[in-house]
Amino acid sequence: MKQVASDLDRYFAEAFPAEWDMPAALLESMRYSLDAGGKRLRPLLVVAACESLGGSRQAAIRVAAAVEMVHTYSLIHDDLPAMDDDDLRRGKPTNHKVFGEAMAILAGDGLLTHAFYVVTTLVKDGLLSAEAAVAIVSDLAEYAGPRGMVGGQVADMEGEQGTTDLARLEYIHLHKTSDLIMFSLLAGGRCAGATQAQLDALQTFGRGIGLAFQIQDDILDLIGDENKLGKKTQSDVKMEKVTYPYFLGIDPSKEEVRRLSEEAKSAVLGAGLHSSETLIAIADYLVERDR
Ligand code: IPE
Ligand code: IPE
Ligand code: MG
Ligand code: MG
Ligand code: MG
Repeated sequence: MKQVASDLDRYFAEAFPAEWDMPAALLESMRYSLDAGGKRLRPLLVVAACESLGGSRQAAIRVAAAVEMVHTYSLIHDDLPAMDDDDLRRGKPTNHKVFGEAMAILAGDGLLTHAFYVVTTLVKDGLLSAEAAVAIVSDLAEYAGPRGMVGGQVADMEGEQGTTDLARLEYIHLHKTSDLIMFSLLAGGRCAGATQAQLDALQTFGRGIGLAFQIQDDILDLIGDENKLGKKTQSDVKMEKVTYPYFLGIDPSKEEVRRLSEEAKSAVLGAGLHSSETLIAIADYLVERDR
């Protein structure tokens, strides 16, 4: 994780072309949230999926940067007063608290749009075939957009205690969170020329760890440590969100995280990858994580 995070930071330093004339405040606002860090899980998944098939990190790291830009935009918007109304993220005041709501919205828009530009630079620089890049761009639009993360965020917003059922909550979690995690694994696979069967296995793995990841996020909202998480706990309670612990309680939710993680692991173990150790280690880490 540390290695990928430092490769990523190196790329972020040059991700916006120096010759582009952009408002300084916009760049500062985008950089503020990108440079605040976070676990960099999705970048790690891109790299781990690529390397599990013997692919090289050079192309994967830029796709990793693109997905982290989309993820960071989603956090900036998720924290806005119109959404979860949170004031702490990645251990710092949320973007809108520092730059104002209008700039936070536009910084999110900027990061989302720039992610697609970053993927196209791989083709311009001869690091990825145009065919693979088109597949990655198409997946990113599908998994991050209305059918994916944005749809999940809308369903999350519409969810109501007492009305929304567990099946609907699964839909919410699969889209607001698993979809971008699935995208990361698929894109890493595509950087390494994965076969369709390998892509299918990576996708099944992503669905499982993605769902487990969001259930753990819900658990940590209740029993986590704000200093470790870098965000306020009890946010879901404040917003009266439906969550797994809301339906099942804490211990059965923890059990569900474990079950999903094991299920995900068996999907990659049978997939004939070059090496599956890192992916397995990530699935194990997600069960234990406290940040
Ligand atoms: C938080 O994601 C939002 C969810 C989808 C649960 P992360 O927990 O990956 O946040 P960072 O990137 O580490 O800040
Ligand atoms: C956020 O889910 C999911 C996305 C940003 C797409 P949450 O609202 O649970 O994430 P946190 O807890 O604020 O990080
Ligand atoms: Mg939210
Ligand atoms: Mg939130
Ligand atoms: Mg949460």
